[in-house]
Amino acid sequence: MTNTELILEAKKAREHAYTPYSHFKVGAALMTKSGKIYHGCNIENAAYTPTNCAERTAFFKAVYDGEREFAKIAIVGGPEGTEPDQMCAPCGVCRQVMMEFCDPELFQIILLNGKDKMTTVLLKELVPYGFGPDTLRNIHKI
Ligand code: THU
Repeated sequence: MTNTELILEAKKAREHAYTPYSHFKVGAALMTKSGKIYHGCNIENAAYTPTNCAERTAFFKAVYDGEREFAKIAIVGGPEGTEPDQMCAPCGVCRQVMMEFCDPELFQIILLNGKDKMTTVLLKELVPYGFGPDTLRNIHKI
């Protein structure tokens, strides 16, 4: 699937967002290395902190299904009732979840950047000097 198509899938996912508090709707479309797509939306909570971001919803659905190898994720977000055209980069917690399951050198994050523009970044660019499973593996080698 192309990056443009994956952004369209993220837009579809965004329609499922449950956002009675922020009214800010986010959608994500996560593609496995085998080409399967997992959709995610943000799901808010009256107690606020249990809120789950769109990206993590997509990852957790995929991991539940036994998926461990991911190629890329498209993310779109913006206020309810508007067509998203601002960049919505993943929050720090979602970046850390990506670090758990994705190769920072290879995993691509596709973001809208204006109406019909996209920006693609690698996970290593969003999480420089990141902490991940490799860090622990190296510790255990000592
Ligand atoms: N949100 C996401 O779904 N993904 C992000 O990466 C940033 C924030 C959601 C959480 C909350 O429901 C709303 O956006 C406003 O913060």
